[in-house]
Amino acid sequence: MTASIGFRGPVSDQLGDLERRLARVGQDAHPVFGEAAAHLFGTPGKLLRPTLVFLSGRFGPNGDERVLVDLAESLELVHTASLVHDDIIDGAALRRNIATVNSKWSDDVALIVGDYLFAKAYALAAVLPKPEVIALVARTVFALCDGELAEITEEKRMPTEREYLERIELKTASLYAACCQGAALLADADPEVVARLGAFGTDFGLAFQITDDVLDLVGDAESFGKHLGQDLEQGMPTLPIIYAVDELDGDRGELSRRFIARDKGVGEILSLIDAVRSTNGVGRAQRRAVEFRDRALETLRGLPAIPEREALAEIAYFATDRAR
Ligand code: FPP
Ligand code: MG
Repeated sequence: MTASIGFRGPVSDQLGDLERRLARVGQDAHPVFGEAAAHLFGTPGKLLRPTLVFLSGRFGPNGDERVLVDLAESLELVHTASLVHDDIIDGAALRRNIATVNSKWSDDVALIVGDYLFAKAYALAAVLPKPEVIALVARTVFALCDGELAEITEEKRMPTEREYLERIELKTASLYAACCQGAALLADADPEVVARLGAFGTDFGLAFQITDDVLDLVGDAESFGKHLGQDLEQGMPTLPIIYAVDELDGDRGELSRRFIARDKGVGEILSLIDAVRSTNGVGRAQRRAVEFRDRALETLRGLPAIPEREALAEIAYFATDRAR
């Protein structure tokens, strides 16, 4: 099986509902909220999180469509709010080839737009019929905040592989896990199925983020939608960089300092990209992503063999085989 976008097929109607709902976000509030939301949701992204919600909701007997759309919208808004805030922190001008809210309006506007989206996400979560799913949404936001704050405040040094994995589990994988687990809970799936879907979401998220970090170094900037070397520019040590430094600089000394330095010039970024590419760092990181993907696929094998299980397997392949 290869990467494909066919995984949306079984839930395309629900994704259509969700897109219509996202198009209405902020329309009844201050015009800038409506304009910013239209800007953010005008070019739909991969919609992986909602797709995971809708597919996972099919593994239980009571997958009420309206309730699942509420969860999908809530988690997509949490995700979008966190990116709007992250783009302020990073001073990013582009995301997915479109202007960020901070660059199109201002940091102050982006701050409040993020808050608004987050409040809207929580309003949707608050009316979900199961308190444990409301609590799961809240825990996911705590995890995102924990991951982001750790990244901002930590002493600048080259992390270990384990520290890196802990960070991406908080920042990325927790949200994918919440999509799968929350939907399965809402659908009254068996506890074993809920646990499997949660574990699938975590491993999928780890594979996805490691692949993202690889694409930052070796991707095609046009299709990736960000300029390459952004992590390097910000002094953000990712897995391929950690492996490269291990190989080139056993004592993690001088080279580590160059990698984690902020505000590098273009020449230094290109020289460091070359340094990483001269090692097995990228290949090792790709293999690590494939290990998490394969563990996700293994977890799926214990789920009922319905077409949605095949769609989840396709999403897992997409995590590692994509160009953007
Ligand atoms: C992107 O990571 C950032 C995140 C996934 C989480 C950001 C979280 C917050 C700002 C705190 C939570 C805030 C709210 C309102 C819920 P990245 O910088 O590694 O990825 P990128 O390259 O796509 O920017
Ligand atoms: Mg960022």
